[in-house]
Amino acid sequence: MATPANPLAPDWLREPADANELHPGLWSRTVDRIDGRLVVGGVSADDLAARFGTPLYVVDETEARQRAAEVRAAFADAFARVGSNAKVYYAGKAFLSIEIARWMVDAGLNIDVCSGGELAVAVAADVDPARIGFHGNNKSLAEIDRAVALEVGTIILDSVQEIERVAEAAARHGRTQRVRLRVNSGVHAHTHAFLATAHEDQKFGITLTDTPAAVARIRELDGLDFLGLHCHIGSQIFGADGFAESAARLLSVHKQLLDDGPVPELNLGGGFGIAYTAADDPSPIDELATRIAETVASGCAELGIPIPVVAFEPGRSIIGTAGLTLYTVGTTKDVTVSYQDDGETAVRRYVSVDGGMSDNARPALYGADYSVRIANRATDAAPALVRVAGKHCESGDIVVDADYLPNDVAPGDLLAVAATGAYCWSLSSNYNYVGRPAVVAVRDGEARVIVRGETEADLLARDAAYAVNKEDIA
Ligand code: LLP
Repeated sequence: MATPANPLAPDWLREPADANELHPGLWSRTVDRIDGRLVVGGVSADDLAARFGTPLYVVDETEARQRAAEVRAAFADAFARVGSNAKVYYAGKAFLSIEIARWMVDAGLNIDVCSGGELAVAVAADVDPARIGFHGNNKSLAEIDRAVALEVGTIILDSVQEIERVAEAAARHGRTQRVRLRVNSGVHAHTHAFLATAHEDQKFGITLTDTPAAVARIRELDGLDFLGLHCHIGSQIFGADGFAESAARLLSVHKQLLDDGPVPELNLGGGFGIAYTAADDPSPIDELATRIAETVASGCAELGIPIPVVAFEPGRSIIGTAGLTLYTVGTTKDVTVSYQDDGETAVRRYVSVDGGMSDNARPALYGADYSVRIANRATDAAPALVRVAGKHCESGDIVVDADYLPNDVAPGDLLAVAATGAYCWSLSSNYNYVGRPAVVAVRDGEARVIVRGETEADLLARDAAYAVNKEDIA
């Protein structure tokens, strides 16, 4: 029997007829319910929890590899249709480990890193340095030196100072470094809408007005080989309009730059969105790729210039849906909440789990929404509005702000939160001395740890006083 909708539910949240349902698009394609139990990559969630404990990051290797290949093909095909080529870099900041870097390279992608640490992971994964793009708005001299010494394929220059720094490193190592220049197109996009301004108030890149002089300087320096402009307009973007506007702005400067030398490439960054809830409806990647390729092609035709090779740097759209997080329910509480001035009340059920903002900071940082299901069983119980909270000492420690779970959800149940593959592990912390969970990859019925979880010993190991005491004892 249908229950009246809970007035505390946000407008976008639909009460499901069946609170066990796994909404397509939110979960990786191997996720299914078999005998009531959620299964991913052929392994059931309760087996994973029993073997590896919770909280647990689970990455579906098949999905990650397949998405990487699909995204690469979407851009390659779209640009081939307009007579050009596309290059795809996986944005490692979304989720990088040695294994994940290898999956991406196997799928034909390049790797975008934005720090010495990410570069070290790519190197440890034996990624050919020629396939690495090195980002960062304030790379250290040591990071620049290492990247040049390693012969990374491209360095994305982010300031006028960096032009000189990379040129000096190139001279020191007796080589020529291919570089892109990051510019700020004045387009900023988020989810549905984009904002176009003359100048964006942010730290990345240089303005379009300053670009010709910066490129002239790059071209003056022997050790630098100018590849083209780069722009990244935002993240979790659902449509193509922002990319189209940004590309149009970049192409007019790109044309000017062609007067004084070659400009073989254009890099439009990443930012393609995914669904976190059933209300999210991002455009499929092949549609976005087609729209962007057509816009670039028609822009180039209008300007009378050849279509450059266009590079992209997707992160979330490759790895986001491939990840899910498993938690165990510890406590449940029904909290009566007044929601109107006249004293109307409704009940919100808080379901507390054994992780939280240390393994997923996105709800606390960005107000991000997620979706949750019971993973160890299916039940006929009616749906109840829940808020899944973590175990940290902060009221903003929310994992899932609002979703419906069967109202018999109870301590000991296993919960799966969908689409946690991007920017969860990579933004994780040790807040409250909670160790980061392990990352387990699943594929064809097998599960294996690809990043081990942190133990209390790991957490104490960097405490200098602890080390001294240990030596005293030894
Ligand atoms: N390229 C550049 C230069 C970037 O700055 C980023 C993301 C990407 C590519 C990849 O964007 P993606 O395709 O993954 O959207 N922590 C935030 C997202 C920050 C994105 C930062 N830059 C979040 O959790 O929503």
